[in-house]
Amino acid sequence: MTTDLEQLRSDLLASIDAAAGLDAVEALRVHALGKQGAITGLLKTLGGMSPEERQEQGPRIHGLREAVTAALAERKTSLERLALDARLAAETLDMTLPVDSVPAGSVHPVSQVMDELAEIFADLGFAVATGPEIEDDWHNFTALNIPESHPARAMHDTFYFPPEADGTQKHLLRTHTSPVQIRTMVKDKPPIRIIAPGRVYRSDSDATHTPMFHQIEGLVIDKGITLGHLKWTLETFLKAFFERDDIVLRLRPSYFPFTEPSAEVDVGYSVVNGKRVIGGSEGWMEVLGSGMVHPKVIAACGLDPNEWQGFAFGTGVDRLAMLKYGMDDLRAFFDGDLRWLRHYGFSALDVPTLSGGVGA
Ligand code: PHE
Repeated sequence: MTTDLEQLRSDLLASIDAAAGLDAVEALRVHALGKQGAITGLLKTLGGMSPEERQEQGPRIHGLREAVTAALAERKTSLERLALDARLAAETLDMTLPVDSVPAGSVHPVSQVMDELAEIFADLGFAVATGPEIEDDWHNFTALNIPESHPARAMHDTFYFPPEADGTQKHLLRTHTSPVQIRTMVKDKPPIRIIAPGRVYRSDSDATHTPMFHQIEGLVIDKGITLGHLKWTLETFLKAFFERDDIVLRLRPSYFPFTEPSAEVDVGYSVVNGKRVIGGSEGWMEVLGSGMVHPKVIAACGLDPNEWQGFAFGTGVDRLAMLKYGMDDLRAFFDGDLRWLRHYGFSALDVPTLSGGVGA
């Protein structure tokens, strides 16, 4: 009996160790531990033994069952690991292969233009800043030198939230990205060079106005900043954005409460096949609002206007997209019409870079 058990154990363990696949392991399990299995048969003999015999044989047979069970599990695990290693080695992914199917979906022109702008301004040393779309009165107006009674407030067609319990009118949907100027000057120490792209809201709707649209703000605060820096920056940016060298700018005196002096920036266009194309100087199109940051705004942010000066500008991202890519109805930007998106959208694989052309 003893030698039989020892023989059975070494035979089983040897076969388990040599099992070539998971099927073979399973066959051995059935052979040893299945209903008709060798070990199962031995366990059944325990019932017919005398108590003394059972006390001696019981632990041996159970020990054999445990050893075989453990060997089966171990062999199974190692075979599974081998199979996984073989699969990982076989399944390689060649990242250099061309894409054989065009990915569904497209990048919206607004996102595309924002990426282009971030790329252009990053090259000029500008960081990207953000602020909340639900703003308070102080950041959107007061700190920008637009006090309560100022007529500019009426011009903004502001969406206000219901008044607070105490009757004060605190929150609104930001009407421009200029509050990000304030948030940045309050938070960061100069020198500051940021752009702030984002959504803005005004109660207005026609072919060139939607209640929600996109602006991008630029702000530079440093020592000895002049109107010359502003003009150079805008010229460099517009040349890179429209990818033409014949960009001509015209700065027209204007008025914004938060800049002094203020200038509206026109860019020259030419007419090609009856369409206006940016570049040349057959006519002028207004593209930007800008100016030197008003000393009162710098002071409202806790900085000394005698020490720090700067310039700011703001423009519509949607409008820049229309001018560059030729759409003529702004409302279609936000309709979600798949035909429009397929036609005007950009491939997700075309990332704008200065070297590769920002226009994709
Ligand atoms: N915030 C202004 C607007 O919405 C644009 C602007 C920004 C003008 C910065 C000057 C400086 O019209």
